Amino acid sequence: MNQLPMNQLETASGGKMSKIIVANWKMNGSNAFINTFFQKLTPKSPHKVVFCPPYPYLSVVSSHIKEYHYYLGAQDCHTNNAGAFTGDISAEMLIDIGCQYVILGHSERRQHHQETSDIVFKKSQMAIHTGLTPIICVGETLNDRNTKNHLDVVKQQLIQSIPQTTTPLIIAYEPVWAIGTGLTATLSDIVEMHQMITTHCQHKDKVLYGGSVTTDNASEILSQPNVDGVLVGGASLKPEMLNTIIE
Ligand code: PGA
Repeated sequence: MNQLPMNQLETASGGKMSKIIVANWKMNGSNAFINTFFQKLTPKSPHKVVFCPPYPYLSVVSSHIKEYHYYLGAQDCHTNNAGAFTGDISAEMLIDIGCQYVILGHSERRQHHQETSDIVFKKSQMAIHTGLTPIICVGETLNDRNTKNHLDVVKQQLIQSIPQTTTPLIIAYEPVWAIGTGLTATLSDIVEMHQMITTHCQHKDKVLYGGSVTTDNASEILSQPNVDGVLVGGASLKPEMLNTIIE
């Protein structure tokens, strides 16, 4: 099993964890975009930076991030590792082309591809079995929060989406109403939710926040005690913004 990325979270100076910054490019990018992007990206960071471009660009992004010692992740994988599944991509293929991470159960997949927590559970199992570190996304809708069901909803997603494993996982808390909207959860809401998630996970697991993370809010979100990193969508497509967030 390839656990290298998680094992490397310890710094040389006494075991303090560095933060994890995941760039989720969603369905954006092109060869031309990637060339320009990496000309503007500031090299090297003490943090773990994971690039998750669309499948066709995984290899080209992989060749760009080598010099930065950054990591490669995909945005989904199938529950099976091979077979008659037209249009799908397996965890084994992702490992084969150099991925270490895979985002699973993103709310856009739960919403547009009817992915249930049960499917996310099976995908996570396969990812772990194959040697990928899954970044498992959970998060409540605005209605869940307004009706004060947010903690229960996310707790259920955790119970149903995360397989029993000793492998360290990454959980991304992404309130659905904060994704791509410019709205962000308050710091106390983030701390409250991360606290609940932490009690339901192994102590080795990492918990990220995602949802309209920008240069304006990244540093205060990242400075919260139980926030191990951020999952960044829109802002990760702007090299200047990503540089600032990473710094
Ligand atoms: P956003 O997306 O930063 O554009 O809100 C985050 C995500 O969906 O992972």
